[in-house]
Amino acid sequence: MARSIEEIARAILAHKDEPCGFEPCSTCTQMVPGNGDPNASIMFIGEAPGKNEDAQGIPFVGAAGKLLDELLASVGMTRGDVFVANVLKARPPGNRDPLPEEAAHHWPWLEEQIAAIDPDVIVLLGRHAMARFLPNRKISEDHGQPRLKAGQVYLPVYHPAAALYNGGLRGTLFADFAQIPSLAERVRETGRETLLARSGVVTAPSGGGGSAANPEADDSAAIGTDVPAEFADPAEAATVAQSQASFEGDYSREYGQPLDGMSAARMITSPERYESESVDEPPRPAPGQSGLF
Ligand code: URA
Repeated sequence: MARSIEEIARAILAHKDEPCGFEPCSTCTQMVPGNGDPNASIMFIGEAPGKNEDAQGIPFVGAAGKLLDELLASVGMTRGDVFVANVLKARPPGNRDPLPEEAAHHWPWLEEQIAAIDPDVIVLLGRHAMARFLPNRKISEDHGQPRLKAGQVYLPVYHPAAALYNGGLRGTLFADFAQIPSLAERVRETGRETLLARSGVVTAPSGGGGSAANPEADDSAAIGTDVPAEFADPAEAATVAQSQASFEGDYSREYGQPLDGMSAARMITSPERYESESVDEPPRPAPGQSGLF
């Protein structure tokens, strides 16, 4: 029988004491299963816990998490309304990038979490998480473009830490988040069954390859969105500007200095993981034989 989200979390937490030979599972302070509403219609997936997440056992509680909270608030949501998880459930030592075999080792838990939650929309936070689900895509080109793959709707967005490092991505991130509620609504209206049937027949956009015969390829299809990428509405732009100012105020109160590129970079233990977020890179190998796609 399928496990509940709580049972999956217990299994992940218990893994800390199970010898598996993978470095993050033994060097982490604790495993970080993910948290939020087990019945959420929107799920967020990041890459791996960092230092703060490792200490607290909760995903996205550091500086990037604070921005995630603000992004959620900008669309009228809180962490309690969504489910947040990572591809990797344990902090890689020194915040290094997870190795493909480590991601593969943890992948079945993520698959199980997705199946248990059955979200209408999965928001992929950053290019690393995106590369696991939508290989061959570029975050700089694909952020904010919902994609349909095997009946599941994915929305890749820049990683919040990337926007802390590069303030120029902040507005883009808020704009991409702005479409989440209407996207989820549209998925609900269309119905998952219809989407599942449709994802078998949609044609990949030019440049995208993929077929059932080649599960490694990205056969996702773009599904249009009626929300423009840029803020055309001055009222909406004003709301975003206000939220940005409030974030900067919070930041300077907390850190005693104004938010700028350098201080944002210092808040992130490994800025090099995010500084190239907007730079196109070949995707890393997809983890193992997941069976998800
Ligand atoms: N970055 C991630 O990808 N996940 C976290 O939980 C925190 C930072």
